Amino acid sequence: MKVLKNYWELGCRVADIVEHTLALPEPKLILPTGSTPLSLYKELVNRDLDWSTATTFNLDEYVDNTIQDQSYRYFMWENLFKHVNINEDNIYFPGDTAVWPQMDYGVGVDLCLLGIGGNGHIAFNEPGSSFESETRMVDLTEETIKDNSRFFPTIDDVPTQAVTMGLKTIMKSKKIVLMANGEQKLNILNVAMNGEITETVPASILQKHKNVKVYYCD
Ligand code: GLP
Repeated sequence: MKVLKNYWELGCRVADIVEHTLALPEPKLILPTGSTPLSLYKELVNRDLDWSTATTFNLDEYVDNTIQDQSYRYFMWENLFKHVNINEDNIYFPGDTAVWPQMDYGVGVDLCLLGIGGNGHIAFNEPGSSFESETRMVDLTEETIKDNSRFFPTIDDVPTQAVTMGLKTIMKSKKIVLMANGEQKLNILNVAMNGEITETVPASILQKHKNVKVYYCD
C-alpha cells in the first residue's frame, strides 16, 4: 500500500498512472465516482491530457430516473468529461443494458480505478456478491444507503437499487488501482488486502489480481 502525504498527493499520483494509460493506443479505462476520486479528476482536468482515443466505462450507477444531480452520469460529466476532449460516443455507463456484454467480455481494459465502501464493497458489489459476478442490477445494503445519503437531501431520496459492474468483470482489467481516503477506511482496507479472501468482503478478491496497487491517504 502506498501512503500519500495528503488528498491532493493521492490525486496527483493516481493521475500519473492515468496519464501513462492515456498514452497507450486506444486506451480503455474503468472509472469510479464518490468523494475519493475528486482530487484525481481535478488534477486530470488541470493536466489537459488527450482523451480523444480513450474509451471509458463507469463502474456503477443508481437505478432511478428521478435523480439528476446525484446521478453518476452527472457526476462524471461535471467533474471530468465536460472538461476534456473525450469522444462522447466512447463513454459508457452500465445503466444501458446494451453495454453489458461489451463490459463483461474481453474489451481489454488497461486500467481500472476503484474506491472502497465502508463495508468492503467495490463498485456496488455488496458483501455476499459472487466472485463470478458480471454486470447486473443489485439491491443496496442499508449501510451503503446510509453512507451515500450525504449526497442527497434526505435518506429517503437515496435509490435502493443500482447497476454495477461485476467482480469478475473488474478482475479482467490489466491493472487495478484502489484509492482510499480517510482513517475510517483503514480498517476495511486492512481486512480486504490482508485478511481472508471471501465474498463477505468483496474487495478481498483483489488479492487474487496480479497487478493491483492501493493508494491511501488519511
Ligand atoms: C459508492 C460507490 C463506490 C465507491 C464508494 C466509496 O458506494 N458506488 O464505487 O467506491 O461509494 O465512496 P467514497 O469515495 O465517497 O468513500
